[in-house]
Amino acid sequence: MRRAIYPGSFDPVTNGHLDIIQRGCKLFDEIIIAVLVNPDKTPFFSVSERCEILTDVMKDIDHGGCTLMVESFEGLLVQYAADRKANAIVRGIRAISDYEYELQMALMNRRLEPNIETVFMMPAETYSYVSSRLVKEVFHLGARIEGLVPALVEERMRHKE
Ligand code: PNS
Repeated sequence: MRRAIYPGSFDPVTNGHLDIIQRGCKLFDEIIIAVLVNPDKTPFFSVSERCEILTDVMKDIDHGGCTLMVESFEGLLVQYAADRKANAIVRGIRAISDYEYELQMALMNRRLEPNIETVFMMPAETYSYVSSRLVKEVFHLGARIEGLVPALVEERMRHKE
């Protein structure tokens, strides 16, 4: 049984995140999509809204035989991953600019918990520039975000405005 944690802020979940989850399904039996509870940030969607949205949009993705779960977590990622008996942490890498920070985190996580491997995955090129931060920025400035996030996310963002 191979269980992975896919951690992140997911504020909001993008099509890039879903692409990574779909690819991860080919490698793992179970993936827990873990939403970070970060009291230092003021999010667009609350943690419970993000979990609800993730659960909803995941119904539409092709997950093969992989079981997908959505949870939230607080504190150290590796502690949470060890508690959930995960073998791996999945992170998406879009460009070289992501790599430096991700490498630092992966090596720190390995030092803290040597039994959990970090697996970097590349999303489809179509999503190589898509980030939650940019989606929110262009949305707030009135641009269309169709194709960058699931339709449900766009709808929820419009209602929230
Ligand atoms: O989607 P994000 O915001 O890039 O995800 C970052 C995340 C949640 C993976 C990272 O902030 C994290 O792991 N936070 C939990 C606290 C922790 O373990 N920090 C040490 C990292 S080496």
